[in-house]
This record gives sequence, C-alpha cells and structure tokens, in this order.
Amino acid sequence: MKGLILAAGLGTRLRPITSLRPKPIINVANRPLIHYAVENLLAADVREIGVVVSTDTQGDLQRTLAFFEDRASFTFVLQDPPKGLAHAVQVAQPFLGNDPFVMYLSDNLFEEGITSFVEAFQPERGVNAVLALVPVDDPRAFGVAEVHENRVTQLVEKPADPPSNLAVAGVYVFDASIHAALEGLEPGAKGEYQITDGIQRMIAAGGHVAAMRVSGWWKDTGTPEDILDANRLELLRLRRDVRGVVEDSRVVGDVVLEEGAVVRNSTVFGPALIGAGSVVEDAYVGPFTTLGDGVRIEDAEIEYAVVGARAVIRHVASRIQGSLIGVEVLVESAGRRPSTHQLTVGDKSQVVLAEP
Ligand code: G1P
Repeated sequence: MKGLILAAGLGTRLRPITSLRPKPIINVANRPLIHYAVENLLAADVREIGVVVSTDTQGDLQRTLAFFEDRASFTFVLQDPPKGLAHAVQVAQPFLGNDPFVMYLSDNLFEEGITSFVEAFQPERGVNAVLALVPVDDPRAFGVAEVHENRVTQLVEKPADPPSNLAVAGVYVFDASIHAALEGLEPGAKGEYQITDGIQRMIAAGGHVAAMRVSGWWKDTGTPEDILDANRLELLRLRRDVRGVVEDSRVVGDVVLEEGAVVRNSTVFGPALIGAGSVVEDAYVGPFTTLGDGVRIEDAEIEYAVVGARAVIRHVASRIQGSLIGVEVLVESAGRRPSTHQLTVGDKSQVVLAEP
C-alpha cells in the first residue's frame, strides 16, 4: 500500500497566514499539519509516500518532511497548476502504478488516525475503495455520500441540497480501478477535476466503494476558525510537562512548557503549549493557547489563540482571544496618548479592535 499526500493547494482561505508559507506547514499545537498526516500513514504501515506539491510549495514541504527521513520514503510529484484532487491522482499515476494507495488531504486531522480505513480495504472481498464518512450538521461544504448496507451508492461534491448528512473526510483508499474512472473526467465547479466525480463513476461502473465511519473527532482545517479549533482538540490530548522555568507564577493543569521557556510573574491555565525559548512575563495565558518557539508575551492577556514563532505581544490592555497570529508578528500598545491605532498589516489580514 502506497500513500499519496495532497499538498499543492494554495490555502487561500487562510491568508495572510498562508501568504508566505503553504498550508501544510502551518502549525497546529506546534507541529506542521503535514506531520500529522505522515505520522498517521506510518502508524498504518504506509511508508512509501508520494507528495503532490506545486512549484510554490515544493521547497518548504521537502524541508519539513526531512524530519521523517529515516522512517519514510518520499516521492515529490509536481501538480502545476493544481486543478483538483482527481487531477492530483492523474499526475501521480506514474508513482502509483497499479498499487493500491491511501490518498490523504494534508489539511485533515483525525483523532484516531487512519488505520481502520486501511484495514477496511479488503480486495479479497471485492472492495475497490474505502471512504471515510462523518455525520455533520451542514454537509454542503463537503463531498456527501449516500450509503446502503455499508456501500456508498451515490456521491456528490458540495451539493446545495445534500442527499444525506454524511460528509466525506479527507482520507480515501483506492485500488488501481480509480485511474480508469478518472479518464476523460469533465471539470466541475471552479474548473477543478473532482475526485468525488471520479468515485461516482467508479460506482456507476459497478465498483464496490465501502463506507467507513470516522470514530473520534475529525477536522478539516480550511479557515482560521478551523485552525483554532484543531489546536483546541490537539491540546486536549496534552499532558502536563514543565521543562522550562516557572518563577512567581501559577501554572495550572495540562501545560507543556518546552525547554528554555520562562513563565515569570504570570498565570497560565492549561491546556496550553508554550514553545521553546518563549517568555511569558506579567501576563496571562489561558486555555487552548499555543505559543510557538521564541514568543514573548509581556504585560498582556491571551487565550484560545495560536501564536507563531518569535511573535511579540506586549502592553495590551484588553484580553486577546480567538486569535491566529503569524510568525514574527508584533502586537503592542503605543500607550494612552495620542489614542490612535497604528497598523502595518498584510493583505487579507483581519484586525478586530475592542473599542469602548
Ligand atoms: C475536499 C473534497 C471534499 C471533502 C473535503 C474533506 O474539499 O473535495 O469532497 O469532503 O475535501 O476535507 P475541500 O476541503 O478541498 O474544499
């Protein structure tokens, strides 16, 4: 079984966080998203992994995946420009050959990994593909499946009028029959070649597409709100581990304080993760907050937030909450007079101020 991680997308809904780096290397609980995908593939004993990249994302992805050098072998496949998930499978065909494979969308997180989907792929029972399904309140943003006796009978991409509440999560197992199903496929919305349409063709040709429920939580991280929520879910798995220095402070609950981090004259309520070399001083860090490496929080309050490496937040009177802050960002108060806001923010940034 091979793996195929799709990591060529631009992550436009996450700008400006993705303006300078591709979405798969955005950190959740201080690990790049794509690391979770690789760990889950390795846990399912999938070591030969194709990574579909674009010219813009290739360098960053090669660098971050060097972390797994001894445990996995990676083949980088260029998809330029990215024209959808079905197109990604087509450009990866020379790597995939006729082997069965797990296709993994690099922005999807699964609490309980993906082993159960790989195990449900049983070619000796005539199974051609496995889809991971999750009941959701509003399935209109996803591929939606209709299921009869554990078999997918119909599949539609982002339907206005969903036939069920079962969303397709971003891990798929296929045998080689998917390649024939993608031949001559017409593009769907936004000119993208949809894997959903390819799988629907597989079904129409008599293919056996098994339905498998996702157990545990699943998170598709398309938007800033999703990243905050994914961070919350990952932090709930933390156990207290204080390796940094705590001085005159309250550090309560499941808090990870990495090497060289300092908490001084402050309160930290877990779950929270404070990266190596960060300094929290005269400050409050509340639940569901991750600080990257080398962050400084001084004379400020923050909770339910993700802060990128080396960002500085100081002398801010109102509590910062529900915030996604990039790498090397500076947030500070200029003092009381003159009472002005002074902003240097990139394209597509959002600044929400607490005005009296
Ligand atoms: C893609 C698929 C969709 C699936 C979703 C899961 O959509 O096209 O069928 O439900 O991933 O994350 P995207 O999130 O790329 O819009």
